[in-house]
Amino acid sequence: MPATVSDKPDPMGPVKKKVALEALKYVRDGMVIGLGTGSTATHFITGLGELVRSKGWHIQCVPTSFDSKHLAFKSGLGVVELDAVDHIDYAVDGADVVNPALQSIKGAGGALVREKVVAYEAKDFTIIIDDSKFKDHLSGIVPIEVTPFAYSTVKRKLRTDGIEALARTGTGKFGPLISDNGNYILDARMDVADAPQMESYLEAIPGVVDCGIFTKCTRAIIGSASGVKVVGSN
Ligand code: A5P
Repeated sequence: MPATVSDKPDPMGPVKKKVALEALKYVRDGMVIGLGTGSTATHFITGLGELVRSKGWHIQCVPTSFDSKHLAFKSGLGVVELDAVDHIDYAVDGADVVNPALQSIKGAGGALVREKVVAYEAKDFTIIIDDSKFKDHLSGIVPIEVTPFAYSTVKRKLRTDGIEALARTGTGKFGPLISDNGNYILDARMDVADAPQMESYLEAIPGVVDCGIFTKCTRAIIGSASGVKVVGSN
């Protein structure tokens, strides 16, 4: 069993659990549910396992990473491949930064490609975060997943356009981190003034598989020590 992010002590754990529990309120029997990746999504996955078990519901889950898949197994959830379902009802995931337009930067955990595929396919995509991540402006590290063959040409194109990007490295090996899809991830620090425009620009570069700018979201559930609030559709 892989070591999941939830194995580490996390001071924000109670807030992450609170937003995950709020997200469980939108789950219905029979749904196909997309499972995000990361320390906040982890609380949703374990909570979903408990909910489904207590209600005796039949839920199918499409995980967005190796870790989320194994946590779903451990939580007793029914896991299916994306191509085994013809739709996704509801997807829940964390994020790194979210603005009031519900645009976000995601992918600090390196799962951005599968996260975006699942989020954009879902009829309802809900982001769960603590309030330190809810900002007026999107800025920070934007991950860009690239096919290994093209990492140098993508980097060069970005540099020509004034964006410096560094290949993400992992632990336990020298060289670039390899995503669950067998690709490299370039991390580019940027202020994102126009999220749809930047998303389209990055995704149009040959060799880019996808980027961590997300522009589709139904609601954000934002937690703090004092409670939770929902921005977007209720
Ligand atoms: C995974 O690739 C990411 O998109 C995460 O969902 C995001 O980084 C939020 O992670 P935490 O919930 O661990 O902060």
